[in-house]
Amino acid sequence: MDPILDFTGKTALITGAASGFGKLLAEELGKRGAALVLGDINMDALNAQAEGLAEQGVKVAALRCDVSREADCKAMVETALAQFGHLDMAVNNAGIAHGFIPFDQLTEEVLDQQVNVNVKGVMFGMKHQIAAMKENGGSIVNVSSMAGLGGAPKIGAYSAAKHAVIGLTKTAAVEMAKRNIRVNAICPFYTHTPMVDEGELSQDKAAMHAMLASGCPMKRLGQPEEIVTVMLMMLSPANSYMNGQAIAVDGGVSAF
Ligand SMILES: NC(=O)c1ccc[n+]([C@@H]2O[C@H](COP(=O)([O-])OP(=O)(O)OC[C@H]3O[C@@H](n4cnc5c(N)ncnc54)[C@H](O)[C@@H]3O)[C@@H](O)[C@H]2O)c1
Repeated sequence: MDPILDFTGKTALITGAASGFGKLLAEELGKRGAALVLGDINMDALNAQAEGLAEQGVKVAALRCDVSREADCKAMVETALAQFGHLDMAVNNAGIAHGFIPFDQLTEEVLDQQVNVNVKGVMFGMKHQIAAMKENGGSIVNVSSMAGLGGAPKIGAYSAAKHAVIGLTKTAAVEMAKRNIRVNAICPFYTHTPMVDEGELSQDKAAMHAMLASGCPMKRLGQPEEIVTVMLMMLSPANSYMNGQAIAVDGGVSAF
């Protein structure tokens, strides 16, 4: 295997691993030799995913993890250490969107949901992942968004939460660099995962996709494999000097 994408002997933790980016990333890391600790709140989908991976010979542990609960984030790390002896990579991917809401109609409830899942999940995830990586170093990728890099019309609470993910990423990166723990964020533009194709954002799907694509220089949304390829490169042990970055994968949107 090409050493740049060889994860043999490494243990990777992924939250939100039952769908979308997390699911595909688990498959790609498993194929390349990593042992996996997978968490999600959708246990039917997660168990099916874990069974499929185990049948292909991947070492995998799956557990219910609601990332808004610190105890669940801690349990993911404890499972990695108990089952595989070490934690080398973590991807704080679990996240939720909200429907399009004009700014003057945003509510406390919507912001609370965003903070609970999208911010606390990353903060408490990293807190325990870093503790487990302090001796031997590691690599953490947090999933932010293009909405974390700039204004995002009608998804204001999501944008606030994804900006916070970048603040947490940069802070952990500078604080933990001396321990050889690299922390980076990935910032995808709209991509065809269930979040976009089946979720709250999917009313009048064709029209919505056309409207979103019109704002992208490549005039299309992303495909999940285009995001996951970059996640793999960010996690690679060969990528040893990228730290504290928020990497846009966006068809050129951020170049405007
Ligand atoms: N798809 C996009 O266009 C896009 C763009 C930018 C960023 N993102 C981000 O990518 C990440 C993955 O999203 P996706 O597009 O794969 O969506 P998805 O809806 O397909 O997958 C998200 C997964 O997270 C899980 N989840 C939700 N709440 C959870 C919680 N409290 N604890 C644990 N798991 C939980 C869901 O059950 C689901 O399996 C999210 O953080 C999302 O904000 C997505």
